Amino acid sequence: MAVNDLEATAKALVAPNKGILAADESDGTIKKRFDSISVESTEENRRAYRDLLFSTRGAEEYISGVILYDETIRQSASDGTSFAEVLSGRGIIPGIKVDQGAKPLALAEGETITEGLDGLRARLEEYRGLGARFAKWRATYSIGGGKPSEYCVWTNAHALARYAALCQEAGIVPIVEPEVLMDGEHSLDDAARTTGRVLTAVYTELHDQRVELRGTLLKPNMVLSGYGAQIRAPAQEVAEATLECFYKHIPAAVPGIVFLSGGQTDEDATAHLNAMNAMGPHPWELSFSYGRALQAPALKAWVGKPENVEAAQRAFYHRAKLNGAARTGVYAPEMEREAAAV
Ligand code: 13P
Repeated sequence: MAVNDLEATAKALVAPNKGILAADESDGTIKKRFDSISVESTEENRRAYRDLLFSTRGAEEYISGVILYDETIRQSASDGTSFAEVLSGRGIIPGIKVDQGAKPLALAEGETITEGLDGLRARLEEYRGLGARFAKWRATYSIGGGKPSEYCVWTNAHALARYAALCQEAGIVPIVEPEVLMDGEHSLDDAARTTGRVLTAVYTELHDQRVELRGTLLKPNMVLSGYGAQIRAPAQEVAEATLECFYKHIPAAVPGIVFLSGGQTDEDATAHLNAMNAMGPHPWELSFSYGRALQAPALKAWVGKPENVEAAQRAFYHRAKLNGAARTGVYAPEMEREAAAV
């Protein structure tokens, strides 16, 4: 696929007022989410839940793309239409998680390396045939006790770039996701320093491996104090620290930055994105690719009961709408209380 096509897809994913729904929870992660609402994680329950999200009326006003999991891209809506077709029929771009998880990094206690490069070229070709036009690969880094090591930072950057190059060869836009985890007691400054180190390594490897940045998106963490930190930075400080770090470390050729929520509350994730966009314009679109922060209220409203599907869809639509507002800095906390009309 030509670079122009990759760039057009990347730009469509960060179109005005829109962002991405990450619905690519692996079997283990979706089980954890279902456990929290006492729903059994059967294939049919997983299908029904994703059907609920993907058939929410009006979601395409705020959702540009959806990241699917291997099982999900092979599943269909109740009427038999494949999920990928349901989405693309509504102007929502289907995507696919292609990494195979963060595994222990050899000889590096407590650190991880993301696996999934073996056979990736063939898997990408198959996923493209199933309708995927973009992909995701997530690497994780912990802060504290000398972590992350240079070894962890550079091996993950190398793997992210190998994944991204293979995606572009297959005509698929790579979302490059280096996630510095919020767990721990680290300060905002520690998070900024670590995020900067990680981004420097990622962009060095992407450059060395000939990846065309205009046909990529970055999915980073925001710069946040650790969950356990004595002082948690407020939204304006988070926005300023994140932007300062990004201006130093992310090339302007990258069309868009689509944040992960990473365990922030849904309201914090929206408020932080809003604060950054209120300080714009910036060289890149600043958008969202949230999992938990888009789905949490819907999951709670649904609790596995068909009679709750409409209420769950209202909750999902409402969160998507508020994050759509945060794309231009016009979100206000009062909007949280507005009834959501589907
Ligand atoms: P969260 O927004 O729940 O962090 O999920 C986003 C994601 O895709 C993590 O890989």
